[in-house]
Amino acid sequence: MKTKIVIMEENNIKQNIIEEAGIVIACGGLVVFPTETVYGLGCNALDALAVEKIFKAKGRPQDNPLIVHVADFNIEPLVKEIPNIAKRVMDKYWPGPITLIFNKSELIPMTTSANLDTVGIRMPSNLIARKLIEAAGTPIAAPSANISGRPSPTEVESCIEDLSGKIEYIIGGDKSEVGLESTIVDCTCTPLCILRPGAITLEMLREIDEGIYIDKTIMSKPKNDFKPKAPGMKYRHYAPKAPVKIICGDLEKTIAKINEIVQNSMGKKKIGIMATDETKNKYPCGTVISLGSRKHLDTVGRNLFEVLRSFDAIDVDLILSEAFEEKGIGVAIMNRLKKSAGFDIIYV
Ligand code: TXA
Ligand code: MG
Repeated sequence: MKTKIVIMEENNIKQNIIEEAGIVIACGGLVVFPTETVYGLGCNALDALAVEKIFKAKGRPQDNPLIVHVADFNIEPLVKEIPNIAKRVMDKYWPGPITLIFNKSELIPMTTSANLDTVGIRMPSNLIARKLIEAAGTPIAAPSANISGRPSPTEVESCIEDLSGKIEYIIGGDKSEVGLESTIVDCTCTPLCILRPGAITLEMLREIDEGIYIDKTIMSKPKNDFKPKAPGMKYRHYAPKAPVKIICGDLEKTIAKINEIVQNSMGKKKIGIMATDETKNKYPCGTVISLGSRKHLDTVGRNLFEVLRSFDAIDVDLILSEAFEEKGIGVAIMNRLKKSAGFDIIYV
């Protein structure tokens, strides 16, 4: 299939392109588009056949439901009920990087929700995304626009690498602002529960309700019979080709441990090191890439997936990563990092 690729900026939207891509979606086709979190691969969320094509294009496991993207606060037709507390979250943080889980209405096909009775809904803040949803005239189901298992794309080049030739349309924009997928909050239980940490942090949600908590199974190594509430959280994810190992603890000890592992490999392995601006000059050997400054964890989050992908391009055998404090956006960064490492962590 020939994929049409058009690049535009969020502050200079080509409306004729948006209309054309909207028609592709309305007719059952697949379109990649930018959002503030990561790029999405979208289709008509109410069309089961179109949704099936997404699973196929990504190689996505059938039991992993898709998030439905809207451009309008009137989501009543898509859900059974909207609890008051969820309304307050929507008022405060929509449009933005947060997905809310509701009991679904009959309008949402079982393919979209992967046979669950619930549906995740999100209103992105990215204008290209919202205009596309309006042009399509239907809610858009969109997982991240990567081949299943690979790090989510935050730049259009990564979407082209993974999906060009398999789908109808790619709309490129700027590098994603957040760089980590949306926070997912289960609104079918009391108190609300975070199923996937993201840029809308626990601390921010607690401004609305102090009882909100993070599902404790998601930050530690899954047990064999592990059945997370967000099915996607059980898969090895965000994974570059080379294995990732996290070194966690005091920063000076971390640097020493990483240098020791590199030294012990005696040049037999090509080792990538995910460092930070503060530490990047402390590794004399190995291929060092900085995620950004520890003083700006937002930037670290924004760079994480593309740095993981860039180690693929230079073909390393092993990636060693520094760790970050699990506070604020650091919770989301460490969640993605631990999953990319398959929870292989050395504590120092
Ligand atoms: O930021 C994002 O959310 C991006 C952009 C494109 O909007 N999308 C995204 O979709 O990350 P995806 O498919 O890569 O991840 C969706 C996650 C999966 O872990 C899935 O299991 C969970 O959301 N999910 C979707 N619907 C759910 C539901 N009804 N109940 C529980 N978890 C759900
Ligand atoms: Mg994904």
